[in-house]
Amino acid sequence: LVASCRQQTVQKPETLALAVIGGSGLDDYPGAEVVAEIFVPTPYADASVVVKQIRLPQASNAIIYFLPRHGSSHSVAPHLINYRANIWALKALQVEQIIAVNAVGGISEELPPGRLALLSDAIDYSHGREGTFFDGGLYPLDHIDSSQLFNKSLNESLADIGGLSSGYCYGCTQGPRIETPAEIKRLQRDGCDVVGMTAMPEAALAAEAEISYAAIAMIVNWASGLSDEIITMDDIYSQLISCTEEARDIIQSYSAK
Ligand code: HPA
Repeated sequence: LVASCRQQTVQKPETLALAVIGGSGLDDYPGAEVVAEIFVPTPYADASVVVKQIRLPQASNAIIYFLPRHGSSHSVAPHLINYRANIWALKALQVEQIIAVNAVGGISEELPPGRLALLSDAIDYSHGREGTFFDGGLYPLDHIDSSQLFNKSLNESLADIGGLSSGYCYGCTQGPRIETPAEIKRLQRDGCDVVGMTAMPEAALAAEAEISYAAIAMIVNWASGLSDEIITMDDIYSQLISCTEEARDIIQSYSAK
């Protein structure tokens, strides 16, 4: 995988080794200057993956890659995202670190709406997604270790910068509907702290591609059945405004280091 991605690669300066994968609320990157739009062909789709090179604002000024996983107009549903093409494209661009940003529902009492937290483990409840490079197709069958899908040192750096707590388990559901209360009770019994629809197989594919991956989970609602309120997209979007601002600040400080 590493070798074949490199064949397509143009030499890039060091400063571009970081990519941000934006989720809901971060389909574009306000305040950043778009330096270039790169169309990366991959073996996994006819359409190229569109990755932006952006210059971060304020003190950072770093140039990084930005890939909105739902597309720039938030139109690709979680189960229809081409996770393999996205990660393959970032590998071809020689990305070494990915900071993913994921809107989630809070399951753990410690994680109310408005809080940001770092993931350290995941359970994948999704189905039918193309979730590996190593299936004997383009690349031989292989079995990677999944004990550290979320990179420890990247997590530590982000925790230091943002004062975020880490060590949380993400339950990845199929979506796009929000879960039933019974589904959330099951996730709770299984030990999930947050629920979302997109961190898997993304994190696992990044591990297969040997890219360090961390995920900033933005808690935008109590998971289904954990509060009396109906979960509405309006409420989610109003939480997302402040959460994405905080996530962007953390990314800016990290990339300025
Ligand atoms: N469930 C799944 N995904 C989500 C949620 C949720 O409650 N909130 C934001 N993304």
